[in-house]
Amino acid sequence: MSAKVTTLGLGLIGPGTVGSVLLEQIKRHAGKLVEKHAIDIRVYAIANSRKMILGQEALELGSWRQQLGESDTPVSLDGFGNHLRSLDIDHVAVVDCTAGDEAPALYPTWAAAKLHIVTPNKKFVSGPFSRYTELTSIQKQSGAQFFYEGTVGAGLPIISSLKTLLDTGDQVRTIEGVFSGTLSYIFNNLGATDSFADVVRIAQSAGYTEPDPRDDLSGMDVARKILILAREFGSEMELSDVTTQSLVPEALRDPSISVQDFLDRLAEHSADIDGEIKDAAKQGSVLRFVGKYDVAARSCEAVLRPFPIDHPFANLSGTENIVSFRTDRYDDPPLKVNGPGAGPEVTAAGVFGDIIQLALRAK
Ligand SMILES: NC(=O)c1ccc[n+]([C@@H]2O[C@H](COP(=O)([O-])OP(=O)(O)OC[C@H]3O[C@@H](n4cnc5c(N)ncnc54)[C@H](OP(=O)(O)O)[C@@H]3O)[C@@H](O)[C@H]2O)c1
Repeated sequence: MSAKVTTLGLGLIGPGTVGSVLLEQIKRHAGKLVEKHAIDIRVYAIANSRKMILGQEALELGSWRQQLGESDTPVSLDGFGNHLRSLDIDHVAVVDCTAGDEAPALYPTWAAAKLHIVTPNKKFVSGPFSRYTELTSIQKQSGAQFFYEGTVGAGLPIISSLKTLLDTGDQVRTIEGVFSGTLSYIFNNLGATDSFADVVRIAQSAGYTEPDPRDDLSGMDVARKILILAREFGSEMELSDVTTQSLVPEALRDPSISVQDFLDRLAEHSADIDGEIKDAAKQGSVLRFVGKYDVAARSCEAVLRPFPIDHPFANLSGTENIVSFRTDRYDDPPLKVNGPGAGPEVTAAGVFGDIIQLALRAK
């Protein structure tokens, strides 16, 4: 007798770099999941920042770009959620692949309406703690699930590994890691004689940074990621409680300074950091920008620190991420997860993995 097939309908918001690759992965692989796991994953709606398509039947994923391009329905995230609620299928999830706060603001409303949520967007999980706990209590009542593996380390199994450690009763003492693909690239490419400003310029022109590199150098991306992990422990911290070191010199923080001016003037203001690079080299160390959560002290930081050249954090390449969990069971050496921490294929696969877990749990 064949197993009953569970249908999971999806509404995807943000078919950009990650979202479009996710749609392609679903198109190519969803059929195999019906055979292997008896789960049928179908996309019913897609919205970008201007328009949306809302299907009563599953959308044809071979032509979603054309359908969205030809749509004359302006985007309305309320309307998007209402449409998903009206579908007569087993389970429905919103997949938020945007970077902003408009979709996250609606997560509590959607979860109350029994819509599950899957996202690589950090804004909700690192946003106000009150909103985070509100969602948790709504979920308990409605049964809606919330998955966000892609918010830390892109497709790497960082949040799921941490949840397993905690669920199996291990005592986690510290979590420490290189969480920013961009800062990883910059410091992996900084030799003892290179200037910080030169490597930032190279990273920016090669497309490894945000269009304005100050968004990466502010340290806030790492602060958000370490906060997301700290919250797995029930920590009530806010983003402002994370000790965060900005690598943007004070004189260049004014947003009215253009990106070009910032890049041109960075060398004049980087004497301190260039000195730190040289001092570290004299002691056989390199600098790495790390996020750290000390569980006993309940303290989070996102800071630049020296590491000896034989340390695992000193031996990364490209935009690699690494996270080290020191626990009672994984003490010396600690448990480490590492690999590419950015990029559309791996990030989309992390989100797809969450969608599959959701469908399996819903069965
Ligand atoms: N790229 C990576 O390697 C990576 C890694 C880890 C995590 N992430 C996270 O993944 C998310 C997506 O990143 P991305 O690189 O794919 O960004 P992206 O290329 O800028 O795509 C963002 C998408 O969101 C849409 N959008 C923006 N505001 C919207 C709104 N109010 N309503 C509906 N749609 C809206 C955009 O629409 P338009 O097409 O109309 O502009 C676009 O399709 C972000 O949260 C990012 O932090 C990305």
